[in-house]
Amino acid sequence: MDLISDDAALAARRLRSGGVVAIPTETVYGLAACADDPAAVRRMYALKGRPADHPSIVHVADIDHLDGWAVLDADGPAAVLAAACWPGPLTLLLTRGPRVADAVTGGRPTVGIRVPAHPLTTAVLRDLGRGLAAPSANRFGRVSPTTAAHVVADLGGLLDPTRDLVLDGGPCPVGVESTIVDCTVDPPQVLRPGGIPTEDVARLLDGALAPAAGPSRAAGMLTSHYAPRCRIHLTDDRAAAETLGRSLATEGSSVRVLDRTDDLVAAARALYADLRAADDDRVDDLVVVLPGPRGLGHALRDRLTKAAAAPAG
Ligand code: TXA
Ligand code: MG
Repeated sequence: MDLISDDAALAARRLRSGGVVAIPTETVYGLAACADDPAAVRRMYALKGRPADHPSIVHVADIDHLDGWAVLDADGPAAVLAAACWPGPLTLLLTRGPRVADAVTGGRPTVGIRVPAHPLTTAVLRDLGRGLAAPSANRFGRVSPTTAAHVVADLGGLLDPTRDLVLDGGPCPVGVESTIVDCTVDPPQVLRPGGIPTEDVARLLDGALAPAAGPSRAAGMLTSHYAPRCRIHLTDDRAAAETLGRSLATEGSSVRVLDRTDDLVAAARALYADLRAADDDRVDDLVVVLPGPRGLGHALRDRLTKAAAAPAG
């Protein structure tokens, strides 16, 4: 049996039988299990190599499918954000509903909820009529996947082609993970910058938003994450990157300079493929020009800072 397919009905059947399915979303691929099936969720965590106390986002088909998964106050800020941004790259931290398995939230009273914008995954969610717990479909701590081939490279050897599936929906158009907003605190707070710029969230809430303080801090988030094997060096401008690149090269290292600061939409879409390509091409040192902290620049700076914090290897 084939591990890769673009058949949403097959993906729904596998999930219903307790399988684990990599699903395309507009941000990155997720590794999904039914969020009310504790055994499937535990196996999904084991495949990813993720600690059991690290919570996962629950994906639902649309805002009318929240019942039992989360509590959304119709008059509160979460409803404003949901109406404006779903389907799309926004995750809301809400009070958890009774259908969510403990294994999804690590026993927390809150749950991250998102309505993803990808036609294949929407078809799977509608067919199932259930929530899907899905972290990014990479091995824990490594670079997130934005194509089905990335998923297969990381997890292909671990998935069982008779029960699991990689649902191929092409390359992810946004390329960085969703923005996570904690709506269980007042005012709401950005826990992780992502595909919806923080400025847009603040505007929708008339400024009643606490911005992320320092690196993203959602439960279980680590300083080092999104890590390729090469060393990453961050610079503020092109000239500094070229200078550093030259000096590393004279020491005999294989160096690449990456500067996509002229187009942040393209930079986000290409980020994880760029990090993977550096490893595939056996680059030792990747020197990256950081974009400014505006729009998608917040998410790019967060991911690159975490990727750079990892020891090479
Ligand atoms: O775009 C995305 O958000 C992708 C796609 C697949 O939807 N998912 C994703 O999942 O990035 P993951 O697990 O790699 O990152 C989600 C983060 C976790 O690091 C976790 O800290 C946080 O969301 N999170 C999830 N549920 C939470 C909860 N109940 N409380 C606090 N943090 C939570
Ligand atoms: Mg992840």
